[in-house]
Amino acid sequence: MADFAIPSGDTPDSAFDISLRPPLFDEFTGQEKAVERIQLLVEAAKQRGEALQHILLSGPPGLGKTTLAYIIGNAMETEVKTTSGPMIEKAGDLAGLLTNMERGGVLFIDEIHRLQPTIEEYLYPAMEDFKLDIVIDQGPSARSVRLNLARFTLVGATTRSGMISAPLRSRFGMTCRLDYYDAEHLQKIVLRSAGLLNAAIEPDGALEIARRSRGTPRIANNLLRWVRDYAQVRSSGLITGPVAQQALAMLEIDEDGFDEMDKRIIEALISLFNGGPVGVNSLAVAIGEEPGTIEEVHEPYLIMNGYIKRTPQGRVALTRSYRKLGMEPPRNAPQSDLFGQ
Ligand SMILES: Nc1ncnc2c1ncn2[C@@H]1O[C@H](COP(=O)(O)OP(=O)(O)OP(=O)(O)O)[C@@H](O)[C@H]1O
Ligand SMILES: [Mg+2]
Repeated sequence: MADFAIPSGDTPDSAFDISLRPPLFDEFTGQEKAVERIQLLVEAAKQRGEALQHILLSGPPGLGKTTLAYIIGNAMETEVKTTSGPMIEKAGDLAGLLTNMERGGVLFIDEIHRLQPTIEEYLYPAMEDFKLDIVIDQGPSARSVRLNLARFTLVGATTRSGMISAPLRSRFGMTCRLDYYDAEHLQKIVLRSAGLLNAAIEPDGALEIARRSRGTPRIANNLLRWVRDYAQVRSSGLITGPVAQQALAMLEIDEDGFDEMDKRIIEALISLFNGGPVGVNSLAVAIGEEPGTIEEVHEPYLIMNGYIKRTPQGRVALTRSYRKLGMEPPRNAPQSDLFGQ
């Protein structure tokens, strides 16, 4: 299994990040469908006094998977134990975690696609029957011991849903995919975060930040922190639309929220592959990125915004990609939308 970090285009969780994490469903903006479904499961489980079903959260980095896992724990009024796929190296590590779970407790496994296959197999009966068969000792004295586990809830998170094996996936009662946020939702998130940080902000200032955050709350919070510093040093401290604009221009943040890799993808698609169609593997080699990262982290954003499309033959640049690079699209280039933008 490939072992590489997925660039999230921002800083990892920090004390700053954690303090802005909404603790309750009511404070979590957007992702209405996923939230409604999870809330329903939580309510039903609580009414019956049972553990919640296992839930798999997938989606690009920074959209709120970890946040939701903690919100689920809060809603179930239970502890959340956190680990991640690569941290569980031996069956004993998993046994240690699972035998310490309290009834109804939430075990959050981040990057669950990076679990080793052998560990995954131990997890199957644990998820299904709350039993764990562990082999102790080696050689002739080796024997298998069956441990009974408390009924726990596994919340898994992954940026690479395509890498989750079918047997693991099928053991989750619910799979929720998180999508990029629109500017309106991000504006709400920025206003909430600004409130928590005691930063004075106007709705226009929040919208300016929201528009350039690549649909991602974590990026929005990071940009807010920068704009707040800028407003404090270069202006009166109040984050207005124009102040936010100047602050973000100073960082050379792309107006369409593009990051470096987004730009490289459309540049390669147009200049090296004549606009496509090209397979993701060839594209990946050309820009020096993992195909999986292109598919799971970058493409969803580019597709959602009408820059590229996926066809059975491969990726194709749409008219908007050419315009983004300041080029006139060729006449046969597929259009981004009905208005030919
Ligand atoms: N819906 C939301 N409302 C308000 N804030 C949010 C929301 N979603 C995410 N955030 C903020 O964005 C930050 C990043 O979210 P989170 O850490 O949950 O993302 P993630 O999906 O787990 O990312 P990764 O894949 O990198 O682990 C959080 O600390 C939180 O402050
Ligand atoms: Mg996370």
